[in-house]
Amino acid sequence: MKKNLAVVGVQWGDEGKGKIVDILSEGYDCVARYQGGHNAGHTVSIGNQRHVLHLIPSGIFQRDVKCVIGSGVVLDPIALLEESDAIEQALGSSVRGRLFISNRCHLILPYHRVIEAAIEKQLGERRIGTTSRGIGPAYEDKVGRRGIRVCDLMDPETLPDKIRVQVADKNRVLQALNYPQAIDPEPICESYLRHSLKIKPLVVDATVMLNDLIRSGKSVLFEGAQGTLLDIDHGTFPFVTSSNAAAGGVATGLGVSPKYVQSVVGISKAYTTRVGAGPFPTESEDGPGETLRKRGNEYGSTTGRPRRCGWFDGPAARYATMVNAFDSIVITKIDVLDAFDEIPFCVDYKYKGSVLKEFPADTSVLAQVQPVYKNIPGWKKSLAGTKQWSELPVVAQDYLKFLSDYLGVPISMISTGPSRDETIRL
Ligand code: GDP
Ligand code: IMO
Ligand code: MG
Repeated sequence: MKKNLAVVGVQWGDEGKGKIVDILSEGYDCVARYQGGHNAGHTVSIGNQRHVLHLIPSGIFQRDVKCVIGSGVVLDPIALLEESDAIEQALGSSVRGRLFISNRCHLILPYHRVIEAAIEKQLGERRIGTTSRGIGPAYEDKVGRRGIRVCDLMDPETLPDKIRVQVADKNRVLQALNYPQAIDPEPICESYLRHSLKIKPLVVDATVMLNDLIRSGKSVLFEGAQGTLLDIDHGTFPFVTSSNAAAGGVATGLGVSPKYVQSVVGISKAYTTRVGAGPFPTESEDGPGETLRKRGNEYGSTTGRPRRCGWFDGPAARYATMVNAFDSIVITKIDVLDAFDEIPFCVDYKYKGSVLKEFPADTSVLAQVQPVYKNIPGWKKSLAGTKQWSELPVVAQDYLKFLSDYLGVPISMISTGPSRDETIRL
């Protein structure tokens, strides 16, 4: 029987989770997203088509797989409908009967985006550099026990009053933030009531559905968004997202017991990127960073922002390996390193002259650490599209072996290009 598997980002997101979940989900009965929202951008390249998924699990292109948006996700219904329309067009068939939304998901409403923009503006230099999707304020409302959920969206009698109460509250917050105008709740009520009718056929008790599937012996792949270093509890706080991207989020985000998470795989680039603000010790702001950006096409899948680029950050990946206890890791974008004579690999952080034993909790410390690099010879040969380990140059094998030994985790797959078949399976 196939084990249930969690697929988790090792770094600051955009590791190539979408490509790997699409491949791995073949043979699973279900793929379930456990956190985040449409801040995510997961790219799946099939043939000459490139799909970017934000909310819908990356298993949707495997036609026998059920896809679940779990209760830990914050849902913008309008974004979801736009995305499902685009996917139905690409698939040439309906997602009904294959795509399910938890009735416990919290909703993103337009005022969440307005508040986020006002707060980021007020923060100025200290801003997080969010994706402006309203993610943080929606999770704030959830934890503050005033959020509106999908089950509320399903009740047209009570929904408008729930929205009006929240808008009155948000207008007080916006006034305090010197926001120039008040939000009118009525167009929001009208729009959400209208969209609720289209969402309704997809809404289920996903907690019951997933537990029933698992108890009847079906296999579930749990899809993470963002990455461990963006996790609200374990990431580089405050420069994080507002949910638990690490493997611990699976159980809370789906209502399945941790006992059912039988295996965890980490997805990591062969180097490192980050979008938005926050410390990034191995960042290269000059030539090599630009080469990585150009060769890796490192522009945000959701916002189009240029991603900050740098070398593989060993201490950060080792920390993520501890937090998630990966059974194996997948290394993506190894082909992007083809161009370099030497590939620096950060093995340690130095802080005030001494090597740090642990990944620091304090962001101001992380911002001051000096990476200690081991320079590994490059291979200067195109690895794009390589499908066999034995076809890799020995120096590339050495880079990957060094990485695997450093983390103490076997590598289960290596990605050598965006497409499904540009993959080495080990
Ligand atoms: P995700 O958020 O983790 O799903 O990753 P994104 O989709 O945001 O970003 C990964 C980008 O790298 C996408 O444009 C992918 O098509 C691309 N990609 C994935 N794997 C590879 C690879 O092995 N080589 C190259 N060159 N591109 C890849
Ligand atoms: P995927 O799933 C990379 C980053 C934002 C910002 C911080 C907080 O494609 O890997 P938010 O809008 O979540 O409140 O922004 O988190 N961020 C991501 N970075 N990949 C993502 O998703 C991200 N989702 C959020 O850039 O720094
Ligand atoms: Mg992405």
